[in-house]
Amino acid sequence: MTYWMCDKCSFVIEMSKPPDPCPGCNNKCTFSDVTCYTPECGGIGSLDTRLVAQRAIKKEKPGKIVHFSDLVRGRNTEGKEKHIPAIQLLKGQGLQGKDQVEIQVGREIPHPNTPEHYIAWIQAFGVKKDGQIIDLGREVFAPGVGKPIYVFNIDASEIRHIFSFSYCNIHGVWEQHLEL
Ligand SMILES: [Fe+2]
Repeated sequence: MTYWMCDKCSFVIEMSKPPDPCPGCNNKCTFSDVTCYTPECGGIGSLDTRLVAQRAIKKEKPGKIVHFSDLVRGRNTEGKEKHIPAIQLLKGQGLQGKDQVEIQVGREIPHPNTPEHYIAWIQAFGVKKDGQIIDLGREVFAPGVGKPIYVFNIDASEIRHIFSFSYCNIHGVWEQHLEL
């Protein structure tokens, strides 16, 4: 399968042929092939997020304000979940009856774990019922060692949302959200 990126709105989709019309902007658009064809970009046949970023940056006008959130990737840019941090809440299964949160990258398809290509960290934030954002910490992983899983305890009755971010040293920052 091939990954296609709309030259107009930057929508990315995995299909055998470019879609018509574009599902992102609903126009008749031209598409660029953003599939990875070399081992260096993270696996032949996967999405080459470096090409995606290069194309997005080329289209930027000088002086335009760029938000970091525009560069964070989620489910819409990855067909199979190799980078997205999957969040699971295990009620009452933590220490002293607390709720346990497990965040794992590569639950469906393991992410590579070599000195050249690895998940460097997983970070989590909570949003309380009154809207306050709280830092739920991070786990840092050494290249080529262990599995990228971050486990911690919370009192889930206080929290409405959990956001998690993971960082791949080649493919950038990925996000996931869980509403409790
Ligand atoms: Fe990666």
